Amino acid sequence: MSILITGGRGKIARAIHAGLTTHGLDARVASREPADLPGAVALDTSDPTSLANALDGISQVFLYADPATATLFAQSAEQAGVKQVVLLSSMSAQADNDHATGDPHAEAERVISSGSYATTRLQPGTFMSNAIYWSYQLRATGQIRMPYLDAEEAPIHEQDIADVALKVLLDGPGSAHDGRAYPMTGPESMTRRHQLDLITQVTDVPINAVDLTPEQGFEELSPIMRNPAQLTSLMSYWSSRVGTPHPLEPTVELLTTHPARPFTTWLQDNPTVFQ
Ligand SMILES: NC(=O)c1ccc[n+]([C@@H]2O[C@H](COP(=O)([O-])OP(=O)(O)OC[C@H]3O[C@@H](n4cnc5c(N)ncnc54)[C@H](OP(=O)(O)O)[C@@H]3O)[C@@H](O)[C@H]2O)c1
Repeated sequence: MSILITGGRGKIARAIHAGLTTHGLDARVASREPADLPGAVALDTSDPTSLANALDGISQVFLYADPATATLFAQSAEQAGVKQVVLLSSMSAQADNDHATGDPHAEAERVISSGSYATTRLQPGTFMSNAIYWSYQLRATGQIRMPYLDAEEAPIHEQDIADVALKVLLDGPGSAHDGRAYPMTGPESMTRRHQLDLITQVTDVPINAVDLTPEQGFEELSPIMRNPAQLTSLMSYWSSRVGTPHPLEPTVELLTTHPARPFTTWLQDNPTVFQ
């Protein structure tokens, strides 16, 4: 066993684990809450002992970005003799993106990439799985409330992110992926308003969408975002995307054997989310 998958309860981590299993490869799954995952090990990335235990005997890691613990992770990975880290970052970390200032993924990328192991940074844009958070709101209030309903996004299916991560892990360190950053999107640009229309078309669930002002958006999203700088960066990004189609990245098709999955596929793959 030499591959460690962090963020074990996350959808991407689960899909990578399933993919490695299909290839006959075993992996160590790590989670902050391992009790939820049979066979998983506990990982507190702020604790050197926990990191050393999880990384013992590991040569490759799939890592969820956390700038607060990135330095400790990089040191622990070097001590453990890790050869490759595949970092789940974000498109918001791109160096040429004006909205990257203060972005936690950019900081995590900088620190993790400084290690002596090979690093590949996955930079997906908006996840299709954000619709899960919309569904909680719909159930609780009968509404979906968000700012910039007319901002264009090119949301990506978590299985496509996992497929790219799997390809990089299977090719291993010493491959063409070393040192690369892979921006990734779904197959089409569409407004958030259109995504809500598609949800209704596929699920028959009517949606009362409320277009929040930026001030209301800050107020309502602050309690649920992990990092205030990330929310500021996101609001600025959404504002810039109103009326501007999102550029599409061919990464999924180039690195896997299939085109990126459309949002309607995500809705069909997750039939209970809005039912
Ligand atoms: N949502 C988007 O549109 C989007 C777009 C681009 C990039 N991203 C980035 O992709 C990552 C996952 O996003 P998500 O929306 O799927 O997040 P999520 O549901 O909050 O987290 C997924 C998993 O990541 C692990 N995790 C969460 N916070 C962590 C932390 N501080 N330290 C270590 N592990 C942590 C958890 O696994 P365990 O509890 O099992 O440890 C969790 O189940 C985040 O870094 C996010 O910023 C998200």
